[in-house]
Amino acid sequence: MKGIILAGGLGSRLFPLTKITNKHLLPVYDKPMIYYPLKTLVEAGITDIMIVTGGDHAGNFLRLLGNGNEFGLKGINYTYQEAEGGIAEALSLTEYFADNDKVVVILGDNLIENNIKDEVEAFRGQPEGARILLKEVQNPERFGVVEFDGDKITDIIEKPEDPKSNYAVTGIYMYDKQVFDFIKTLKPSDRGELEITDVNNMYLAKGQLEYSKLDGWWTDAGTFDSLLHANNLIAAKEQKVEV
Ligand code: DAU
Repeated sequence: MKGIILAGGLGSRLFPLTKITNKHLLPVYDKPMIYYPLKTLVEAGITDIMIVTGGDHAGNFLRLLGNGNEFGLKGINYTYQEAEGGIAEALSLTEYFADNDKVVVILGDNLIENNIKDEVEAFRGQPEGARILLKEVQNPERFGVVEFDGDKITDIIEKPEDPKSNYAVTGIYMYDKQVFDFIKTLKPSDRGELEITDVNNMYLAKGQLEYSKLDGWWTDAGTFDSLLHANNLIAAKEQKVEV
């Protein structure tokens, strides 16, 4: 199983913070943001990892992380996204690295309290298809949101005005090799991106989309408020206090 961290995009929701650096290099409490998703993969036993980044500051990832020795890794693979064509486009750049293996994908701005060991094990035992991780949230309209019939997912809508549940699709996705063929059929959305939600809906249409509900807190850090929230959550976790 391979691990992929998606750390491209412009981070425009965080301007001017992201004018002079990449969003995923901004601090979250005492470490750069990218440390957290990297740790999430390594703790789940995934050590063959590629980081997709882009923009003007891509070289700083190498300066910061090098070969990943600090994380117990022997090396890290890097690739470069030329445009900001969306999460699915960024993922498509890793097809040669995945080399028909299963992949665990994590967005570079997604942080969790615990770990994903059990979820990765569940996916390891899955003969084919995909697995997404869900989390109940207060503000589902900011995310990809699932619609349920009982405990069965019937649809996933990206940033719905009228969410049909409070369950957000977190930025941790597990896919078999079909994902790269699915991405090749995608058309850009209204925001001009290849959407990962469309990929997840393709697996759903084939009856091959499994899910787990994530324990502990989950947050992204891509807006001023969520970045502040992430800082507070990590600070509390490190200091072992309640927020
Ligand atoms: O955080 C979870 C949410 O992430 C999901 O619930 C949504 O379904 C999913 O679309 C995504 O929503 P956002 O609009 O918050 O994604 P954003 O554009 O902020 O991108 C999140 C990360 O994906 C970003 O930190 C780096 C990576 N990315 C994004 C784009 C647009 C890339 O690597 N390349 C890109 O072109």
